Amino acid sequence: MKALVKEKAEPGLWLMDVPEPAVGPGDVLIKVLRTGICGTDLHIRSWDGWAQQAIRTPLVIGHEFVGEVVDTGRDVADIKAGDLVSGEGHLVCGKCRNCLAGRRHLCRATVGLGVGRDGAFAEYVALPASNVWVHRVPVDLDVAAIFDPFGNAVHTALSFPLVNEDVLITGAGPIGLMAAAVAKHAGARHVVVTDVSEERLELARKIGAHLALDVSRTSIADGQRELGLREGFDVGLEMSGNPAALREMIANMTHGGKIAMLGLPAEEFPVDWSRIVTSMITLKGIYGREMYETWYAMTVLLEGGLDLAPVITGRYGYRDFEAAFADAASGTGGKVILDWTA
Ligand SMILES: NC(=O)c1ccc[n+]([C@@H]2O[C@H](COP(=O)([O-])OP(=O)(O)OC[C@H]3O[C@@H](n4cnc5c(N)ncnc54)[C@H](O)[C@@H]3O)[C@@H](O)[C@H]2O)c1
Ligand SMILES: [Zn+2]
Ligand SMILES: [Zn+2]
Repeated sequence: MKALVKEKAEPGLWLMDVPEPAVGPGDVLIKVLRTGICGTDLHIRSWDGWAQQAIRTPLVIGHEFVGEVVDTGRDVADIKAGDLVSGEGHLVCGKCRNCLAGRRHLCRATVGLGVGRDGAFAEYVALPASNVWVHRVPVDLDVAAIFDPFGNAVHTALSFPLVNEDVLITGAGPIGLMAAAVAKHAGARHVVVTDVSEERLELARKIGAHLALDVSRTSIADGQRELGLREGFDVGLEMSGNPAALREMIANMTHGGKIAMLGLPAEEFPVDWSRIVTSMITLKGIYGREMYETWYAMTVLLEGGLDLAPVITGRYGYRDFEAAFADAASGTGGKVILDWTA
């Protein structure tokens, strides 16, 4: 089968013929239809410091996908050939304290699909049945392909109650954009999105943000004044990984404000801890998706009319992966989809 492989320990990706994955007794074999390109895939392609320490070559990359089940191992019940499925890209150990308690998103030994084992940028992918989410409600294929990052957005956005709250989202990448849509849908009073890319801020306006701020030109405090906020934001969703964004967020929260952090900073950096203490701010780190409460929430949010269409801005056949990756790496658009049937 064709697959996008990190074949050598150097920048680049290689479209190659590789053997189809083996299907164990508890596994599901999936014919991949569409995949989403994630920041992780860009790191692996450019072979940065993180990728060099995290990746063993050769590796089939990719973790955001939708596909159709073609085969199941003998121990698999409830999933059958023909089912439309996406996959949870975190494979958990099943044995640690949190796994045993049913808190699988807190597993201490998570292995990432397309990072720690062969992934989904291929014509076929095999996954344990416990990592497969069956779409039982009709769903757009492009949206189904990005359930993994949509789940990051939902897990983060629904960490704290949002009804009638003023919400600040720093970073209008694909995940920040989806979080803005979720926050609005969930009943936030004001949703303010910041970025430094005018194109992405335009996407934030399209998806329904009340205010989209270019923080290279305007301060978040100015944004507060524009909306008539007097005491700061109630909930902050950090989705940029940028130190300045978190610092500014902390400075603009109300007393008792709550911050959920998804953005992954590249290195350590200082923040105003005394402000966090005296403003009694709650900080919560977010990794991945809750298994499978987040997946349930995603499905019913879409059923309830949540519209993610503006987030998807690029569509390519898998043979055009170079153009698709360049589009995703530009940092100015939304989500980029690769079609594995074209
Ligand atoms: N914790 C997890 O499980 C998890 C999963 C996926 C992604 N992530 C991280 O979440 C973040 C969002 O993912 P994405 O795919 O949308 O990323 P992205 O890189 O596409 O988006 C980040 C955005 O932040 C913007 N930005 C830069 N400086 C800023 C500033 N000072 N203020 C406001 N915005 C600023 C960038 O212009 C960019 O548009 C990334 O940091 C990513 O690494 C975490
Ligand atoms: Zn991803
Ligand atoms: Zn575990």
